[in-house]
Amino acid sequence: MAIPVETSKNNTFSQLPSTEEVKDFEIKLLIEAIQFRYGYDFSHYAQASLTRRIENCLKKAELTTISELIPKIIHQVAYFELFLREMSVTVTEMFRDPPVFKVLRSKIFTQLKTYSRINIWHAGCATGEEAYSLAIMLKEEGLLSRSQIYATDFNNHSLAIAEQGIYKAEKIPLFTKNYLLAGGKASFADYYQAKHSHAIMHDNLKKHITFANHNLIKDQCFAQMHLVICRNVLIYFDRALQDSVLGLFQQSLLHRGYLLLGDKESLEFSDQSDNFTAVAKEQRIYQKVRYD
Ligand SMILES: C[S@@+](CC[C@H](N)C(=O)[O-])C[C@H]1O[C@@H](n2cnc3c(N)ncnc32)[C@H](O)[C@@H]1O
Repeated sequence: MAIPVETSKNNTFSQLPSTEEVKDFEIKLLIEAIQFRYGYDFSHYAQASLTRRIENCLKKAELTTISELIPKIIHQVAYFELFLREMSVTVTEMFRDPPVFKVLRSKIFTQLKTYSRINIWHAGCATGEEAYSLAIMLKEEGLLSRSQIYATDFNNHSLAIAEQGIYKAEKIPLFTKNYLLAGGKASFADYYQAKHSHAIMHDNLKKHITFANHNLIKDQCFAQMHLVICRNVLIYFDRALQDSVLGLFQQSLLHRGYLLLGDKESLEFSDQSDNFTAVAKEQRIYQKVRYD
């Protein structure tokens, strides 16, 4: 009779970690491997969306366990580029949330007019649509010639699309609608050249935008900014990382400089709340009021 052996075996297994605990452990190992090999720290990304994205990678790579991803990531730099693309949610559009752009134009640009040079850091620009929207609005307000937009992201694939400024024609109706809702003063068609099934943004917009790789987790800030825009990026970070990135923006801004966040993001309850005042609370526009 093998009953005693089976009982002791069952006892042993009942003490083992659950499948979920094993998965959490594998994610920790994966994050550590990425940090070691490439210096990208994903440990402060919101856990649920990070897990979802890693699971998508598994499916695409036809692997069954997260552990199997680790050697691929460590030894195949090209695969890591693909993995990074999966990790970043790049959904964006021109004049996304048009009322925000309307308020930016009416309340903030009027203030920026007093400066002889305007520096804007646009962090997490994805494929560039927001940066071009900004350039269009600055042009319509007569500010583009003295403005420089530094549009950054850590996803090189998205940055390459942003730099080209070529978008599918099928997106133009939405972009045009948003442009008008955002208070566009001319015609959206004035800002691109239609070619085959694409729209190519005009060079006179492009020359005021510098697209660059920048990782909010590990890189320094851009200094002397009048306006920092970072929308729909902080939602993917945990509270500690949000605080550290908001600190970076605070350092980056000149005294009385402006900060624009996404509609699900806020300065309230962050470490930076005392350093800013809300200028348009609903649109998440803040002004730096303390200078350290
Ligand atoms: C949802 S998109 C937001 C695009 C645009 N700001 C908007 O609201 O339409 C989020 C972007 O944040 C970028 N991102 C995520 N983590 C980042 C990091 N650590 N450093 C720089 N960019 C990051 C992603 O690559 C992605 O392009």
